[in-house]
Amino acid sequence: MKILGIETSCDETAASVVQNGTKILSNVVHSQIDLHAAYGGVVPEIAARSHIETILPVIHEATKNTGYDAIAVTHTPGLNGSLLIGTLTARTLTLLTGKPLYPTHHIKSHIYANWLSEKSFPQFPILSLVISGGHTQLIYMKSHNNFEIIGTTLDDAVGEAFDKVAKILGLPYPGGPSIAAAASKANGHQQGILNSREKTPAGGSFPGEESCLADAHSPYSLPIPKVAGLDFSFSGLKTATLRAVQKAVGVPISTPSTELAALLTDEQRHNFAASFQATAIQILLEKLALAIQTYHPNSIVLGGGVSANKELRKRVSEVDFWRIKPSAAGENHRSAVKRTSGQDEIFAARNVSKDQPLKLYFPEPKFCGDNAAMVASAAYFAIKAGQKPTDPLILDISPHSTIS
Ligand code: KG4
Ligand code: ZN
Repeated sequence: MKILGIETSCDETAASVVQNGTKILSNVVHSQIDLHAAYGGVVPEIAARSHIETILPVIHEATKNTGYDAIAVTHTPGLNGSLLIGTLTARTLTLLTGKPLYPTHHIKSHIYANWLSEKSFPQFPILSLVISGGHTQLIYMKSHNNFEIIGTTLDDAVGEAFDKVAKILGLPYPGGPSIAAAASKANGHQQGILNSREKTPAGGSFPGEESCLADAHSPYSLPIPKVAGLDFSFSGLKTATLRAVQKAVGVPISTPSTELAALLTDEQRHNFAASFQATAIQILLEKLALAIQTYHPNSIVLGGGVSANKELRKRVSEVDFWRIKPSAAGENHRSAVKRTSGQDEIFAARNVSKDQPLKLYFPEPKFCGDNAAMVASAAYFAIKAGQKPTDPLILDISPHSTIS
């Protein structure tokens, strides 16, 4: 079955034809980054106007050599105007072609980006960490199209925090890639925070207990929030970074965030980027580790724009390593487990993994951000699991909705 996926939930206009959920026949993404960069974030009206201008050429390009049997479109969640353009286009196309129409949830699609490029596919039960500009969620899946949200952000999404902190530091939009690039130029001290903390008993922390990523040697000590269970919070980290920047450049806390970038040296900028990135990753990893221990999945699946982050991919691979080969873990890894778990419990489940290996999946970087191939894949597996087509005359959008 060839499915035409259409994606316009935010600032990418995308269309793709995917066969049987995994084989990409075409994949076209028109990015609006240049249009929004001047504003430091997505301007909804500009996004909707650009979608109108590009949606038909993008769909034409994606379908001209492939044909398709069904249409899938992102109808929730996202920006109102952006969702409307894709959804109305899909409804019209459905009426014109008579092909079945399947509405798709954007977060589900980010998970299914992992079925696009792997030769082996994730095995159920699956634990997904979806991290994007709009969402930070842990989702447990017992089977296809069966989703249980087990953790979510209580305030900002992690990608939103990357974008806002980048703005404070004077780094270009989108903030995720520019923070990652700046962090890689840090002078080493900040990048070493995690290691130095591992060796410092006072530096240890665990959600709900004392919380601070950096140790006493770090000028940029940023907090890990005290949030119970598997939920996340990133707005405190954003504010803590703002306060630390104000302190570092010697201005009062009433100084607007827009005035700070000009006062930072490049060295400070890079070090703040590294400190922020390391702390954000640590928050994600501690929750992911707790979810692994609680839910005992067979596979871990990452998705969403932030899952392109190289440092995160490196660190989460170490988590996987601890769990499936505990005896092979080096001294540093073992002390890190003790420190982040506060007492080894988080990784107690690793013993299970001797008979039940845990596999880790990331989408290819080009499928981490918004694209339509993931929409077509999600729709295919939902159809296989029993989803019925929707009446094109009544399909509506929903800017906010959770997976069900
Ligand atoms: O999934 P996505 O393209 O759109 C949404 O559904 O939100 O995610 C966009 C988010 C932005 O916040 C962007 O800054 C972040 O993903 N992002 C990254 C990286 N690349 C994109 N964050 C951290 N590191 C990256 N390399
Ligand atoms: Zn997205």
